[in-house]
Amino acid sequence: MGRIENWLDERFELEVFEPYLGKSFPAEDSFLLGEVALFSFVILVITGSFLGLLYIPSIESVTYHGSVVRYQGQELPAAFASVLQITYDTPFGMFVRRFHHWAAHLFVAAIALHMLRVFFTGSYRKPREANWAVGVVLAALAMLAAYTGYSLPFDEFATTATSIGYNLAGSIPLIGDFLAKLVFGGDYPTNTSIPRLYFLHVFVVPVLITLFIGLHMAILVHQKHTEAERDGDVETTRGRVDRDDDGIVVGLPAFPNQTAVSAVVFFLTVATTSLLAGFLPVHNVAEYGPHDPASTPAVIMPDWFLMWVYGFLKLWPTWLNFSVAGLHFSPEFLAGVVLSGAVFLAVLAWPFLDVHEENVHFTADPLTRPRATAVGVAGVLMIMVASIAGMNNLLADLVGMGTGPINNALTAALIVWPLAGALATYYALGGTETTTDHTETHRADD
Ligand code: HEM
Repeated sequence: MGRIENWLDERFELEVFEPYLGKSFPAEDSFLLGEVALFSFVILVITGSFLGLLYIPSIESVTYHGSVVRYQGQELPAAFASVLQITYDTPFGMFVRRFHHWAAHLFVAAIALHMLRVFFTGSYRKPREANWAVGVVLAALAMLAAYTGYSLPFDEFATTATSIGYNLAGSIPLIGDFLAKLVFGGDYPTNTSIPRLYFLHVFVVPVLITLFIGLHMAILVHQKHTEAERDGDVETTRGRVDRDDDGIVVGLPAFPNQTAVSAVVFFLTVATTSLLAGFLPVHNVAEYGPHDPASTPAVIMPDWFLMWVYGFLKLWPTWLNFSVAGLHFSPEFLAGVVLSGAVFLAVLAWPFLDVHEENVHFTADPLTRPRATAVGVAGVLMIMVASIAGMNNLLADLVGMGTGPINNALTAALIVWPLAGALATYYALGGTETTTDHTETHRADD
């Protein structure tokens, strides 16, 4: 190790990195959610590279000679046939496909939980508003990555579900036609749709995610982590740190301690994903069959993290649409683009609405912030009810009612639950914002 260090030192002057190696990471378990998101993305890139070697991004017909008996000798779209090939005839193919699938779900779930952690602990407050905004872009990109990947097997279920996005893009007044053709290569699904979605999935979106993660991390390193409020003064290897001094982050040094913790988080992420991949099957393309323009599957559903958008589409009254100056504002546009876009905008704008004059470096206890916590509870409830609405037909079957009355009940719940949840939270927490002096002090530059 010493010789390697000398070799590197003579060439790269390692002392340049020393300030970074000594950087403190607060020892707070919930701060590891961002790392889980990061490592899931690494897994996605590695497993995606394997799948990319075997997947064929084309819907030209090929004769299938693989081991799924029911398709033997049939003409199938090349994309669909290649996914069958990966799943049933490539060593470890099914495992890697499942690994990729579950890593994608873990990626989005970790981002959502990380975002909730940042929100409820007030870690987005000045000076971290810009990093919150970068995070919102990352969340949108993660969903876009999953959406574009969903379409690739070109099976009946995925193609029909993906067409919801095509319809939404096409519903935008003025630019809709152009946008739908640009992203989907023409009337979806057409010959150019799969190559275009493939290019977005394996190049454009991952490159953007990589760039935005880089920016997210650069801002994080520059601004340093937030830290939970201390119980008292803390004795550190560099001396005593005052309880209220938020100019210094108390925690584990980046190297070797935090690196070891991160390595554990990495291997736990890999282990969890491989357990899921080993035991839980994914989207069974062989059962759904290749895309068939003449039929529609009985149940159409997006992934769970886009279910709320689908719920808005289902609940929006069809009569609520209008035309202005020759432009038509359809229910798809109003529910799927305007309302869903408004949710994203509200999330993006929140740190600029919850204004703090001074820099805030200690995390807050959500129980001491009735207003922000109430808004967060309302947001979570709204997304939950909208997601349930996305599955309204399953719910109708379950309770033995028609989708009409179920939709009325869900529309009422979409308005009442978030309001009731917010009011209950606000008053249960005392109804007034409390801020302690030390969360409002300036931090030294270190
Ligand atoms: C690809 C997605 C993302 C990755 C890989 C990622 C990664 C990370 C990591 C590793 C940290 C430091 C540790 C931690 O606080 O968890 C962090 C901090 C932070 N993230 Fe993210 N993040 C992502 C998405 C988001 C989203 C969606 C938001 C919010 C909308 C967000 C907002 C923040 C903020 C404000 C901080 C600083 C928090 C602090 O100092 O306590 N991030 N992120």
